[in-house]
Amino acid sequence: MRDYWDAQADNARMVTATTPRIILASFNAVGDFLKDAEEAGIVLDVGPGCGTMVKRLENVCTVEVVDISSKVLAKIDLPEDRKHLNKDLPKERYSLAFSHLVFQHIPEPMDFLFMVYNALKPNGIFYMQFNANMNMKKKEKILKAERGEMVYTTCEVSDMFMNCGFVDIETKYDENRLWGYIKARKQNDR
Ligand SMILES: C[S@@+](CC[C@H](N)C(=O)[O-])C[C@H]1O[C@@H](n2cnc3c(N)ncnc32)[C@H](O)[C@@H]1O
Repeated sequence: MRDYWDAQADNARMVTATTPRIILASFNAVGDFLKDAEEAGIVLDVGPGCGTMVKRLENVCTVEVVDISSKVLAKIDLPEDRKHLNKDLPKERYSLAFSHLVFQHIPEPMDFLFMVYNALKPNGIFYMQFNANMNMKKKEKILKAERGEMVYTTCEVSDMFMNCGFVDIETKYDENRLWGYIKARKQNDR
């Protein structure tokens, strides 16, 4: 997967499919994202693409980014110490993390969730958008997965978050876009 995203790093359209307005609308479906970001201080953008949200959040909080691709990170206009590769992501540093248009590309979702979970401080919050379909048959999902696109129901994603240790899980399903949104909190004692 790293090679794929390295190759996409020069393709701004591929790594930025959405505007800040759409991303904020996604997260505000399950919470008050900008208020949480302001209170958090340092916020982690997981899979930033070309950094759309980095610019949008400039006056709200301090943003750091984590990505699987060093080529994607190289394109983002932030000081080097605010850009992290997955393997170097600091532990228990962030009160808030968010991720948009990333989860559908992840073949090992639990590894990804544990990475974010470990980066959060106790009580830290994670907002995530994911590709959802409440009616898709298992067979169709497998075919999609074989083509590299993971699709879930909100229950499936909630279960994964719960198994990771997240609590206070809220989800919302947008049946027009076939997107799901989730907000969850890391437990205080894990
Ligand atoms: C489609 S872009 C999304 C960009 C932006 N968040 C948006 O909503 O427009 C996917 C991003 O996720 C990153 N990515 C893919 N797999 C990842 C992984 N396992 N861990 C961290 N980042 C990953 C890609 O390198 C890319 O920056």
